[in-house]
Amino acid sequence: MKKKKLRLKKSVIRFFIVFVILIVGVVYGLKYYNNYKYQQTNEYKLLQKGYSMEEIALLQNNLDEEEINNILNEENKNEIYLNLFKEKYYLKKNLDEYLTYYQKNNEKSFKDIVAIVNTHANNKWYAIELDSKPELKELLIVNKFYKLKADYIPENLEVISLSYSYGNEGDNKLVKVAYDEFLNLWQAAHENGHDLMVTSSYRTYEEQKEIYDERKISQGERKADETAAHAGNSEHQSGYVVDMTSKNEPTDVEFSDSQAYKWLQENAYKYGFIERYPEGKTYLTGYSPESWHWRYVGKEAAKIVHDEDITYDEYYAYYIEK
Ligand code: DAL
Ligand code: ZN
Repeated sequence: MKKKKLRLKKSVIRFFIVFVILIVGVVYGLKYYNNYKYQQTNEYKLLQKGYSMEEIALLQNNLDEEEINNILNEENKNEIYLNLFKEKYYLKKNLDEYLTYYQKNNEKSFKDIVAIVNTHANNKWYAIELDSKPELKELLIVNKFYKLKADYIPENLEVISLSYSYGNEGDNKLVKVAYDEFLNLWQAAHENGHDLMVTSSYRTYEEQKEIYDERKISQGERKADETAAHAGNSEHQSGYVVDMTSKNEPTDVEFSDSQAYKWLQENAYKYGFIERYPEGKTYLTGYSPESWHWRYVGKEAAKIVHDEDITYDEYYAYYIEK
């Protein structure tokens, strides 16, 4: 009886030992397996290459499996990708174009490379022809790539009163929504001591053609292209633009040096207007600075353009065309 009990006790102990060994084996085995599995992941391989977790997240958000495999085969960290992906306005669809442009322009900042490619300004001016979309209303774009049809005439054009414009009654017109806000802008400017006057606004295709052709004859094509748009490529044809001057400042003061211009730069966006051809942005807009040319885009877009100090070309590329 005693022997039987002892045998039972021994086999329980043996069973227990085997059980413990099995559990330990399974735990270690699983740990090893999980380790092995993790080592097969891109995260592990990228960490081994020296990428930080933050950089890995950038790569994984912007590259597919094949592209990640390619960079794993590269000798060093791919700083070009990382710099591009960090850019706020980076667009995945433009990756190949950024890389091509970077190869020939690697002295430029990544911010500029992204802006230039996004706005198509990596192409020669007028080298590509895209359709402006009047159905976008005040958010449409017209520039050296986006063109309005020759017969496009905006709806709801309203005559700008001679209280706010030079020329004859009916010479200056704006689309109603832009005119309504222009009146608010004008009033606010007036209350701050600036009497704005419109010198040019809506222009037909034919009027723009005349302006451009005349400038081309008098100044040559290259010079004309710095200041005037080809017919169809002028946003004056959209009916959302005013060229302005200030009535109550000395006539020998350039508008770009005027108090009125300074006020507009700080306040026009509150009424939905933006400076369309700012200083230092010719490489994106295609035009020399035009302190007098203000474009209505609506308050929401105008605030972004103003606060982020971007051109409307950039805004359109990133927020609308994408
Ligand atoms: N001066 C501007 C660029 C135009 O001709 O539309
Ligand atoms: Zn203008």
